[in-house]
Amino acid sequence: MASEPAVITSVRALEILDSRGRPTVQVTVTLPDATMAVAGVPSGASTGSREAVERRDRDAARYGGLGVAGAVDAVNGKIASYLTGREWPALADIDAALIALDGTPDKSRLGANAIVGVSMACARALAHSDGRELWDWLTPSGVTPRLPVPHFNVINGGVHAPNPLDFQEFMIAPLGAPSFPEAVRAGAEIYASLRGLLAAKGYATGLGDEGGFAPQITEPEEALDLLVTAIRDAGYVPGRGGVAIALDPAASEFRGDDGGYQVAGQALTSSDMIERCAQITGRFPVWLIEDGLAENDWDGWAALTQRLGERITLVGDDIFVTNPAIIADAIARGIGNAALIKVNQIGTVTETLTAIATCRDGGYAQFVSHRSGETTDTFIADLAVSSGCGMLKTGAPARGERVAKYNRLLEIAAARPPMPYGLPGA
Ligand code: PGA
Ligand code: ZN
Repeated sequence: MASEPAVITSVRALEILDSRGRPTVQVTVTLPDATMAVAGVPSGASTGSREAVERRDRDAARYGGLGVAGAVDAVNGKIASYLTGREWPALADIDAALIALDGTPDKSRLGANAIVGVSMACARALAHSDGRELWDWLTPSGVTPRLPVPHFNVINGGVHAPNPLDFQEFMIAPLGAPSFPEAVRAGAEIYASLRGLLAAKGYATGLGDEGGFAPQITEPEEALDLLVTAIRDAGYVPGRGGVAIALDPAASEFRGDDGGYQVAGQALTSSDMIERCAQITGRFPVWLIEDGLAENDWDGWAALTQRLGERITLVGDDIFVTNPAIIADAIARGIGNAALIKVNQIGTVTETLTAIATCRDGGYAQFVSHRSGETTDTFIADLAVSSGCGMLKTGAPARGERVAKYNRLLEIAAARPPMPYGLPGA
């Protein structure tokens, strides 16, 4: 991180569009040495209820109420006037000032979308001003940066696609690839073979929000069968030594008020869901399950962890929301064994780094993630490398806003000296 106090010359925001065609915030920060850094803010669709709050205008006359003019004004007004013309010893001080200026526990006053854009742009500006790559600048002392295993979300369901598939994400993870570029090749080749397979079976090959296919299938097991076939058709070996599968059911989205889960038209209890997950991991090469249960089903999560935690990576997304305090609580209670890491879920880069450190200290894996609404910003690619966590999900190997991250990692992979690839300790 930066060693000398920094001065910020200007902070400017703009309302731009995200990958779903909805408005989002872009922030540009300049420093006295003429460094200029830009950040684009992502946006989720299946959000956790305890996430930092995205500020939307709610003016039905603009973008159906989704405008972010208020968040942009917050950056150009209050935030810019506070940050410019002062000395900042470190990014942590800038982020603490943003949190204090907002004054709410969920960043709802200025807007988490305003705050996170400023935080990301400042991090990038300070790194570049230091003459360092963002991943290098973000790497904490004692951590070995690594190229992460890319988790390509190649079949989309849930709220990310207009199909009857209740599980949201079906990912392929080349755990056994010899390098990051070879992992990307595996992802793209399997994606192509899956397209062919779907077409041959008469399914439409239209895409969901994260670039995965969105066929009209209902049962998660049918999607998994297709993935295993696509992996084999492309010449790869399904499993941890080759290409494994990861699932994000995003179960908060299909849990009813009565506590039951609705999957493919069936009503399932929390224990039925655990049984279903266990059966799936027995039948398919699934190595990771994210949000297999809903965010408010902590008892179920404890039981799921007891049942599968020894052999399956169980990632908390909606339940942890990248919040260091919630993650610490979960670690103390033995809930899951990994946390999803989304910068905009908590709202500043510093708090995100704290969430990562909390996981690392508590023996929890970290899974760096995009959002379903993205820009071409590649911050999370560098963040994943800097954490040394070894795993990242940023959608299918298709669509500009998704491949921007994978392409940034290809660039980092090409730099010398070479960096290790894959899960730490693998
Ligand atoms: P979101 O979903 O970005 O739409 O919230 C991603 C996820 O659930 O992991
Ligand atoms: Zn998720």
